[in-house]
Amino acid sequence: MFRRLAPVLLAGLALAASPLPPGPGSEILYKRCSSCHTLTTTLSARGASAQEWAAIVRKMEGYGMRLTEGERQTLLDYLARHFGPEPQSAPEASAPLDGEALYRRHCATCHEQPDIAPPLLGRPAWREHPDYIAQVVFFGLSGTLRWEDRSYATPMEPLPFLDDAQVAAVVEYLAEQPFTAEAAARERAKGLTPSLVRLLRPLP
Ligand code: HEC
Ligand code: HEC
Repeated sequence: MFRRLAPVLLAGLALAASPLPPGPGSEILYKRCSSCHTLTTTLSARGASAQEWAAIVRKMEGYGMRLTEGERQTLLDYLARHFGPEPQSAPEASAPLDGEALYRRHCATCHEQPDIAPPLLGRPAWREHPDYIAQVVFFGLSGTLRWEDRSYATPMEPLPFLDDAQVAAVVEYLAEQPFTAEAAARERAKGLTPSLVRLLRPLP
């Protein structure tokens, strides 16, 4: 059973660990286009023209996908730019990386609600093991977690739409010490699983 599942799982993990090109549409793509099928299905249309992508997105809306007008436009621009006939590899002009702002935007919704996820600010363990934070973001985390008098059983999903530099900025902010995009890339390349990351958790 496990043997037969393994290649599928590995393919899924490899994709989870490969960054979507950064840009405002990457988060929408990740969140809206992977609820009914995998991103592999979504990206099977790689190379489609802008009109073809628009038709695909319309078809998905026919299947019940919901997008606001603004999200649809951002997503179509992103698909045309990065997954069209001539994908652009040049990164979009991005705002300077601000770890605190990235934390507020991508982590605080869960991590500032102690009922949902453990707090991340001011944790001494992060100073010794900043790499663990990057691993959680790249690969997710599963397995029961204790923090002070609470226990957490809901897994954290990976956030593959954050690129190496963004993850490095968040790690730097949380661990209160330098962490480079190269260091983040080294963690991403490890190809861990959520349960392996759990085993690597430093003592709080
Ligand atoms: C409400 C469910 C749902 C959502 C959300 C969804 N899809 Fe789909 N998608 C489907 C179904 C159903 C199929 C056809 C069956 C299959 O191939 O799995 C499909 C198939 C596809 C295919 C294969 C080619 C084709 O036309 O059949 C692509 C490409 C695709 N989706 C892209 C996207 C994109 C891009 C998004 C996000 C904007 C998205 N999907 C979101 C339901 C959905
Ligand atoms: C949708 C909710 C959600 C978001 C968003 C989220 N997390 Fe998590 N996170 C969790 C949950 C739930 C856990 C506990 C997982 C478990 O019990 O296995 C967790 C656990 C963690 C842990 C392990 C904490 C420990 O005590 O070992 C780290 C580190 C972490 N998250 C970092 C982040 C970072 C950094 C971000 C933003 C880039 C982020 N998370 C965004 C829900 C979230």
